[in-house]
Amino acid sequence: MKPNQRQVVLVRDVEALAESAAERLLARVAHVEDRAAICLTGGTSPEGLYKRLAQDPYRGALPWDRIHWFIGDERFVPADDMRNNMGVARRLLLDHVGVPAGNIHPIATDAASPDAAARLYEAELKRFYGRDRLDPANLLFDLVLMGLGRDGHTASLFPNSPALDEQQRWVVGVEQAGLAPFVPRVTLTLPALASTHEMLFLVSGDDKCETLARVLSGVDLPASRAHADGDLVWLIDRAVGLEDLDASE
Ligand code: 6PG
Repeated sequence: MKPNQRQVVLVRDVEALAESAAERLLARVAHVEDRAAICLTGGTSPEGLYKRLAQDPYRGALPWDRIHWFIGDERFVPADDMRNNMGVARRLLLDHVGVPAGNIHPIATDAASPDAAARLYEAELKRFYGRDRLDPANLLFDLVLMGLGRDGHTASLFPNSPALDEQQRWVVGVEQAGLAPFVPRVTLTLPALASTHEMLFLVSGDDKCETLARVLSGVDLPASRAHADGDLVWLIDRAVGLEDLDASE
């Protein structure tokens, strides 16, 4: 499969962003006959989606026992720290819907270092996938959620970081975050994130307009480099302020 062109979808407000993302997630899982793999993201942009999925109709409609939940990047803080990305997903979603414990795949932030946690997570992803090399004919994830930082970062891939150029490893440790919270991070790399049937960026917040315009016009930022073997969709809350720009490609 060839990397797809970006589709830009503008929605009315944050409520519509959550609703539209929930619909896409439900549709994506419906396509999968056996287990589905979803890679969640950190930050505030997915919070509305997480809360929405924990309620009906999604709560009743999703086949929770056959969905596996991963995280695209993690802050290297204890699992119960409020800044822990999987912790947020648990509090807002996973704790409320009866997901089998073995279907939740957190990054081990009690490992000796971010690099050690990255290696453990890479091994876990490979175990789940059942092979050591990514195969474009057999994608790792069904859906990968992504966010956009003010500096153009996505996952924990910050501008000018060597992690951006990583082609072999699926997960790496990042000692220095480029934006708050300034804690070490663990992140999936661009090739691992790309191995998905759909990559869905969720963009909201009135401080994103300029960065988003730069991404959409092709400026080389980490988020501009994110690609998918399947569909690449940017779901954008109109309040970001893009109306006046030509967002279509
Ligand atoms: C993190 C992230 C990060 C986030 C963006 C957007 O752990 O911080 O995963 O890449 O998605 O910074 O964050 P907001 O949604 O809060 O704007």
